[in-house]
Amino acid sequence: MDAKIFHKVSYGLYVIGSTKDGAFNGQIANTFFQISADPATVAIGINKKNLTNEFIKSSNVFCVSILPKSVPLNFIGHFGFKSGRDINKYQSVPYKKGVTGAPVILENTIGYLEAEVIGSQDVETHTVFIGKVVEAEVFSQEEPMTYAYYHQVKKGLAPPAVPKDIKYDKKVDTKQEIKSNLVICQEQFSN
Ligand SMILES: Cc1cc2nc3c(=O)[nH]c(=O)nc-3n(C[C@H](O)[C@H](O)[C@H](O)COP(=O)(O)O)c2cc1C
Repeated sequence: MDAKIFHKVSYGLYVIGSTKDGAFNGQIANTFFQISADPATVAIGINKKNLTNEFIKSSNVFCVSILPKSVPLNFIGHFGFKSGRDINKYQSVPYKKGVTGAPVILENTIGYLEAEVIGSQDVETHTVFIGKVVEAEVFSQEEPMTYAYYHQVKKGLAPPAVPKDIKYDKKVDTKQEIKSNLVICQEQFSN
């Protein structure tokens, strides 16, 4: 199997937010897509180890915020390289509570949609959540970020939690290399 085929698949980049017992958490994901228009349904792929997965399973709601091309790397680092188990990600980011109760970020986003989970599928390391869209808003006409642009122009990396085979620009074979990649990312994102 030529795993490079996965580099030919197009994605955007999103912050997926959810809620549990009045708390908020969110993460970066590229695995988001629309399934049907009427009724509007969407799907996301979320690693089972992520706190966001736990929050979505608990509340059965999620918000997908679409990131613009101009999004700073440290914003992606905040949501994509840190876990809500260690920090409160929404403490330093402007947001509003959406109609579902999920947090809607108000900066570095060109719009969002909120969904109620109507089904889910266990896919080994990840859960695919299928959601019925109940609210959506466009904030600006800025161009959306793509996963390819993030890698090629922003020189971004991805942590081990993203789906296998589409996660790195460089081949990463050993735990040590993963570790040093994360150190590079942490340095990049702490600026
Ligand atoms: C560019 C990029 C794409 C990512 N895509 C996904 C994804 O599609 N699904 C996923 O579960 N994690 C993805 N991640 C990883 C999560 O954002 C990351 O593991 C996050 O720290 C989880 O946070 P949490 O534990 O607070 O939920 C991605 C990260 C980056 C930087």
